[in-house]
Amino acid sequence: MKEATKSKYAFVANIIEDIDIRLEGFYPRLGRMIPMFVWRGIYIASALLGNGYKCVAEYDTFGRATGCTVLVTMTAKQMVSRPWAWLGRLSTLRACRYAQDVLGVDIIGLGSLTKSITDEGYYLKENGISIPITHGDAYSVASGLNGIDMLCDRFELRPKTIALVGAYGKIGSAMTKILARKYNVIAMGRKKELLEKLSDETDQPIHITTDLKEALEGSQLAIMTTSAPYSIINEKVLENGRTYYLYDLGQPYNLFPDRYWDLVRKGYRIIRVDGGFEGTGKPFDIGFWMRLNKGVVYACYVELVTQALEGDPNDYLGPVDIGHVAETGRRAEKWGFRHQPLSCFNQPLDEVLKKAKPHWKGGRS
Ligand SMILES: NC(=O)c1ccc[n+]([C@@H]2O[C@H](COP(=O)([O-])OP(=O)(O)OC[C@H]3O[C@@H](n4cnc5c(N)ncnc54)[C@H](OP(=O)(O)O)[C@@H]3O)[C@@H](O)[C@H]2O)c1
Repeated sequence: MKEATKSKYAFVANIIEDIDIRLEGFYPRLGRMIPMFVWRGIYIASALLGNGYKCVAEYDTFGRATGCTVLVTMTAKQMVSRPWAWLGRLSTLRACRYAQDVLGVDIIGLGSLTKSITDEGYYLKENGISIPITHGDAYSVASGLNGIDMLCDRFELRPKTIALVGAYGKIGSAMTKILARKYNVIAMGRKKELLEKLSDETDQPIHITTDLKEALEGSQLAIMTTSAPYSIINEKVLENGRTYYLYDLGQPYNLFPDRYWDLVRKGYRIIRVDGGFEGTGKPFDIGFWMRLNKGVVYACYVELVTQALEGDPNDYLGPVDIGHVAETGRRAEKWGFRHQPLSCFNQPLDEVLKKAKPHWKGGRS
């Protein structure tokens, strides 16, 4: 591995919701003037014309690397829904080509759903992206494991059984294999055959189910790691009167704020933690909001940054290599990244709980 010279990296991700166009770096004014349904049409039209991405920020990283954020201007729903998924994939490829050929970056990191729709990044490699690509899921696993420990410590939770929701995804399957060494695991996913394959690949016995309610009911803590572009938690899968601990790694979230507060107001006791939210003690400004508080970045982003800083020229695509999870943890520690104090929708968890608790009466944990 060569010692890092000043490298340049690009984080390529899609916008999450249509209103993201109002962010600084995009079109804050026009974003407010033009109705959102028109914007949704503009996103598709721009992508069809080949302009479905934008470099929204370029910034220094610890004086050792230059970072760029390139966003595909299609919403998470558009990226994965049937009529436009092919266009999301093509726009992601175009954004990566732009990063490689025009911005001249040495390494690309894939964020949000760009990896899920590009065959874990292999589609990009097969179509002209020759520089290293990482999907950042190894450190997302490492960060998630730290976050779960923090959550358990905070609530003195000693879970016997943990549910993995989206269990045969990249993050889900690695976490299943690691957590099954210590806990009973309920692996939940929509496809039975992929759950069975995951079960065969896991050294310890695990329970598999396609029923989210069963997974939540049978566990004391659930890790949400699906690529669903909508809230998957609703009244049908919850039981009123017990406490749910949810560690939500989904981007978009697997439980959105509006649904969360709706459920809380109906008395559902849900303690939800933002998954994979990382920060560093050093000043670190990524020049763009990206739906996070200043100084906070996604775990997959940390993997990209530290790979660039370390000058590691390898691709990290496909299933997460468990050995690499530990290596990304070491790199993050070296460069001062760590899981942020527990938060929920970017607010300190304790503040959210203070607002939520008056709605919770009685119940068991
Ligand atoms: N917070 C962070 O720092 C961070 C870092 C990296 C990734 N992420 C996010 O974490 C999530 C997972 O990433 P990944 O790379 O592991 O994605 P992935 O490999 O595409 O896995 C996602 C899994 O979710 C499953 N899924 C989709 N909809 C579902 C639903 N309604 N119910 C149950 N399962 C469902 C998919 O399987 P089926 O479609 O077959 O059901 C797939 O197996 C994404 O939202 C990603 O953006 C967050």
